[in-house]
Amino acid sequence: MFYNIVLSVLIFDSAIRGVHSHPEQTFEKTRMTTNQTVSRNGVYSRGDSFDTENLDTRFGHSGGKRRCKTKKSFSKYHPCGNQLCLCNRYVAVCRNNSLFEYIPKLPSNIRRLHLICTALPVINNSTFSNVSSLTHLYLVETHIRHCEPNAFSKLSKLQSLRIGYNKFTPDNLKRCLTSVTSRNLRTLALYAVYINGTFSGSKIFSGMSNSPVQNIIMDRTYIDTYSIDDFSPLKHMRNLSLQGCWITATVFEGTSNLTTLWLSENALVKFPPFCNQTTFPKIKELFMDGNFIRYFGAFELDCMTSLERFSISFNPLAYLEPNTFSGLPRLNTIFMRNNYGSSFRIRKHAFNSSRLINLHLGIYEIHAPHMSQQAFNSCNKLEKLDLSMSRFENKEEAYFDVMFAGLTNLKDLNLSGTGIGFLPAVIPRVMQHLETLDVSHNQISWWATEYFRNLNSLKTLIMASNQIDTIHRFSFSSGRIQSLSKIDLSYNPYSCSCENLLWFSKLLKTKKATNKFMNYPSGYLCSAPSALEGKKVIDTPISHRYCLLTPVISLVITSVSVGLLLLIFTLSMVYRHRWHLRYFVYMLRYYHIRFQRLVNDGCNYRYDIYLSCSEEDVDFILENILPRLEHELNLRVFIPQRDGIGNKIDGIIENMDASRRVILCISDTFAADHYCEFETSLAYERVLNERRDLVIVILLEEIKVVNVTKTLHRILTVDEYIPWDCSEQGVNMFWLRLIQHLDYTDEPRP
Ligand SMILES: *[C@@H]1O[C@H](CO)[C@@H](O)[C@H](O)[C@H]1NC(C)=O
Ligand SMILES: *[C@@H]1O[C@H](CO)[C@@H](O)[C@H](O)[C@H]1NC(C)=O
Ligand SMILES: *[C@@H]1O[C@H](CO)[C@@H](O)[C@H](O)[C@H]1NC(C)=O
Ligand SMILES: *[C@@H]1O[C@H](CO)[C@@H](O)[C@H](O)[C@H]1NC(C)=O
Ligand SMILES: *[C@@H]1O[C@H](CO)[C@@H](O)[C@H](O)[C@H]1NC(C)=O
Ligand SMILES: *[C@@H]1O[C@H](CO)[C@@H](O)[C@H](O)[C@H]1NC(C)=O
Ligand SMILES: *[C@@H]1O[C@H](CO)[C@@H](O)[C@H](O)[C@H]1NC(C)=O
Ligand SMILES: *[C@@H]1O[C@H](CO)[C@@H](O)[C@H](O)[C@H]1NC(C)=O
Ligand SMILES: *[C@@H]1O[C@H](CO)[C@@H](O)[C@H](O)[C@H]1NC(C)=O
Ligand SMILES: *[C@@H]1O[C@H](CO)[C@@H](O)[C@H](O)[C@H]1NC(C)=O
Ligand SMILES: *[C@@H]1O[C@H](CO)[C@@H](O)[C@H](O)[C@H]1NC(C)=O
Repeated sequence: MFYNIVLSVLIFDSAIRGVHSHPEQTFEKTRMTTNQTVSRNGVYSRGDSFDTENLDTRFGHSGGKRRCKTKKSFSKYHPCGNQLCLCNRYVAVCRNNSLFEYIPKLPSNIRRLHLICTALPVINNSTFSNVSSLTHLYLVETHIRHCEPNAFSKLSKLQSLRIGYNKFTPDNLKRCLTSVTSRNLRTLALYAVYINGTFSGSKIFSGMSNSPVQNIIMDRTYIDTYSIDDFSPLKHMRNLSLQGCWITATVFEGTSNLTTLWLSENALVKFPPFCNQTTFPKIKELFMDGNFIRYFGAFELDCMTSLERFSISFNPLAYLEPNTFSGLPRLNTIFMRNNYGSSFRIRKHAFNSSRLINLHLGIYEIHAPHMSQQAFNSCNKLEKLDLSMSRFENKEEAYFDVMFAGLTNLKDLNLSGTGIGFLPAVIPRVMQHLETLDVSHNQISWWATEYFRNLNSLKTLIMASNQIDTIHRFSFSSGRIQSLSKIDLSYNPYSCSCENLLWFSKLLKTKKATNKFMNYPSGYLCSAPSALEGKKVIDTPISHRYCLLTPVISLVITSVSVGLLLLIFTLSMVYRHRWHLRYFVYMLRYYHIRFQRLVNDGCNYRYDIYLSCSEEDVDFILENILPRLEHELNLRVFIPQRDGIGNKIDGIIENMDASRRVILCISDTFAADHYCEFETSLAYERVLNERRDLVIVILLEEIKVVNVTKTLHRILTVDEYIPWDCSEQGVNMFWLRLIQHLDYTDEPRP
């Protein structure tokens, strides 16, 4: 934030920024906004007001280097006033210009003039005659050596005069200020001015007794002793800022009309005795941050009956007694952050107040607070409680139960960085109106399922930087995320697995997440599993589809598919070897039947098969068919060409009758062979006589049409024949069918 910059830069920068903000507002912005006080205190380092640069400045040395070298952009400005300055609308800036000897004529609309790092050693009644209609004048590091008693008398419209980083003797400054006679003057700043001599008692403002000035800023000017008397001529002064003025002592007498007093960043070791002999009946805001105060009691504030805001952060406070604030009927805000006193003790009822609304009590982390559980008793109006950075590591539920018991109106609770490992159950039980809950930077890893159900007013929930690894649909009651306008769950060690984060991951991937979730998406990273470590949650594959494939299911799918593959493989193997297999099966059955047959009537026939073929086919038969029939199927086969002897016809008749089955191996030569024709007739005669299917026809080759005799024609059309085929499959097929035929029980032919 702009105003967080240390004050030395502030005056200069606000001078430059004058274009954008009204100067009177600048005063209020820089000093009066409580928010900014806090944030400024938050970044303020204690050594700052005593740093070397400011000491240099104080003794008139090199302090200006940084201001003169600023890289502030003046791109919107155009040269004006004899090329000595830059102008933009009603603002003129003349800076860092060694040619500068006088204030040139400027456009008539210029109301604000910033002279920065220029040489203006003598200021007299003619110095500003070219710019007499100014309302705001800033003289920053202008090397003033001498200021005449009527120096500013020409500037009758002046509302704000700011002099920074210049040196004066007390007398010269007094004379100089006497000439500021504008009836419109509201603000006078003597910022980081070096006064050669003691300020206190030098009556610098004595010439301004008629001045209407209301705001006095003397930040970073060495004052040492704050005495009300030094400012008493300024009858209309209401706001006084004495920050970083090395004040160690205070002198009070009479009544003060101040409404705001800043005494931050001084060297006060004791709380000023504001109310010992003085009264501050009108004071509304008192800022005592960044001093060395160890103690203050109720009586030390009791004259400040109008006090609304009180800030005493960055002090080594050791002790806060009961009812410290109970006598302040208007007090609504207390800042007591970052107190670094060891074992700061806060007694019970310390904050007893009927009006207190905002309490900022974050305590510096290194020292454990000894805070009474009953510290917040009797402050049931409290709406905002900031306990951030206080140490509550080892506290149990019961501690919070008592501490928060009465805070029924609380709207904003900050428990950031307190080391708590759980969300206190008392919060949803008591704080029905809670709107903002900040529990970031803690050790929270889980909370009860219905925790957020009753927190119906909750709008902002900050749980960043905890130990949350799992967020599921029951982490937040239904609709709670929708009703929040801001939610921060970033920088938690998320375990990016389906069980832990599916719901949350889906939520983050919705469009709404972009606006609602802070630090989205870069703050939402996985810590586990190691494969996803450091990956953004929205970049993980976690989704419904992905998570359906849980390991168990994928195991099932794997095994099923392996099974299927095996089945397909088996089937294809079976298919490939189907003939072998069927052959095998038939062989089994065949042996069985044959055995039966042997038992029943095996003795009736001398041969199992009478095989008829032509002379020309014998070799083929002997080579291709017979071995298998005889050796594998173990059949007794009669082939006339091999086994026949003697009279052929007799042999044929006798042996055919002695055979159970007849196989005719038909080919072209078979058709032409007379013996074969005879055997065929004989076989069919037996078929007729015995009325059983004893003939098996094998077609060794396609018969030429000329060779198809009537008998053959009849055989081939009526009977089922088995064709021979030389291919591997064909052979398998052939044998299969042959065995099938051989296998038929000798049923009577219909
Ligand atoms: C604090 O700041 C917030 C947001 O910037 C603002 O809404 C609120 O009014 C401020 N409070 C005070 C006291 O300035
Ligand atoms: C201002 O002047 C100083 C020396 O006089 C010089 O070092 C510096 O660069 C100047 N800065 C700008 C912004 O001109
Ligand atoms: C007024 O400005 C003019 C030119 O811009 C200059 O010559 C003159 O010296 C200035 N007067 C004073 C008193 O600085
Ligand atoms: C004002 O000061 C300037 C510069 O020192 C000088 O030239 C001029 O004469 C003085 N004017 C009066 C009226 O003293
Ligand atoms: C400036 O001041 C001198 C005395 O210091 C006076 O004589 C002179 O008249 C003044 N000039 C103007 C223009 O006021
Ligand atoms: C301070 O004032 C005294 C006289 O009062 C003088 O001797 C000394 O040089 C001055 N110092 C500075 C830095 O102006
Ligand atoms: C003094 O400061 C308060 C803010 O605390 C502001 O409201 C008031 O207007 C200021 N007074 C003047 C005269 O600017
Ligand atoms: C305070 O203001 C009153 C008028 O409002 C005035 O009479 C009185 O002198 C002032 N007191 C101081 C110390 O300025
Ligand atoms: C308060 O005032 C009395 C005189 O009235 C004085 O003796 C005492 O020291 C003062 N206390 C403080 C803390 O200044
Ligand atoms: C709280 O403060 C009020 C007003 O000063 C007082 O009456 C009451 O006794 C105090 N409560 C406790 C518990 O001290
Ligand atoms: C809570 O306190 C911490 C530390 O002081 C601060 O950074 C944070 O912004 C506060 N949270 C809210 C919501 O104001």
